[in-house]
Amino acid sequence: MSENNKPRRDFIKLASMTLGGVGAASLVVPFISTMQPGKDALALASTEIDLSPIPEGQSLTVIWRGKPVFIKHRMTDEIQSAKEINLDDLIDIQDDSARVLQDKWLVVLGVCTHLGCVPLGQKTTDNKGDFGGWFCPCHGSHYDTSGRIRKGPAPKNLEVPPYVFLTDNRIKIG
Ligand code: FES
Repeated sequence: MSENNKPRRDFIKLASMTLGGVGAASLVVPFISTMQPGKDALALASTEIDLSPIPEGQSLTVIWRGKPVFIKHRMTDEIQSAKEINLDDLIDIQDDSARVLQDKWLVVLGVCTHLGCVPLGQKTTDNKGDFGGWFCPCHGSHYDTSGRIRKGPAPKNLEVPPYVFLTDNRIKIG
């Protein structure tokens, strides 16, 4: 092999190493991109809800991060019964004021804390259980008008998701 061929051989070696590097990089990029949350997931990370169409005494169910969220426009007597309770009677002790940002609006995940069923109580005609909130018929958990567990096998209150009021009639969950 003549000495004249050497620079050409070096060039070929260098070119193939560079291509190898590009190949490795292109393998890494799709792998990393599959670990990023998809656009759908990002879009659902937070959701804004207009509360103005929900009349007093009625509820709305929205889906946030794949879970139902119950938004209840509470009536005066529902607020009173949530606040007047003796805290010692509760299974999962929590004052109503720690569960709401505004008394007339209760926002909770509609997921029973027993085994994850969706409790009844969103429709005005639904069975709302013994405490006027929600009733989970699969094993008989009763929730009050603050979404607190009052009777049955569920161990915890309905969870309050993170949310803020953007205006008097608009909230952002997540
Ligand atoms: S899942 Fe609700 S009572 Fe069992």
